[in-house]
Amino acid sequence: MKNVWETFSPAETEAIGEKMGQAAKPAQIYSLDGDLGVGKTVFTKGFARGLGITEYVTSPTFTIINEYMGRMPLYHFDVYRISSEEEMEDTGYEEYFYGEGVTLVEWASLIPNLMPMEAIGITIEKDFAKGDEYRRITVCRREEA
Ligand SMILES: Nc1ncnc2c1ncn2[C@@H]1O[C@H](COP(=O)(O)OP(=O)(O)OP(=O)(O)O)[C@@H](O)[C@H]1O
Ligand SMILES: [Mg+2]
Repeated sequence: MKNVWETFSPAETEAIGEKMGQAAKPAQIYSLDGDLGVGKTVFTKGFARGLGITEYVTSPTFTIINEYMGRMPLYHFDVYRISSEEEMEDTGYEEYFYGEGVTLVEWASLIPNLMPMEAIGITIEKDFAKGDEYRRITVCRREEA
């Protein structure tokens, strides 16, 4: 199943994140891809709000993982600075991916072999022809059995 949204401001991207956060279920994993500065963290801020998280959400670029508590835990990864899948193993990611909370991974395309098949794929893209603040958000998920 594939859904596409178009947004014209950061607030609209956050609002889509918030809706998806509201609908999120325990143990789900979301991959979040798109170029530098496209809006992955903006989306995540909304997603966190949708999970009932009131804490300020920041990019875990240097820490790799930030953990927040809402109606369930949110494990927010940013694997941009991970240089190999072996290095990813050192973060103990499996405890998060296969835990009770919801996992969201910025730059998941850098660790393709570690992302489970069931992950919900979110890709954010720009299109300069449509303006600086235009973003296309594509969500792909495998049909639930
Ligand atoms: N429609 C939009 N949706 C989201 N962000 C937008 C939009 N229009 C402009 N922006 C701006 O784009 C930037 C997105 O930054 P953000 O940190 O979310 O990107 P990122 O994809 O997480 O980058 P990185 O790869 O460095 O982690 C912000 O400065 C935001 O204000
Ligand atoms: Mg980011």
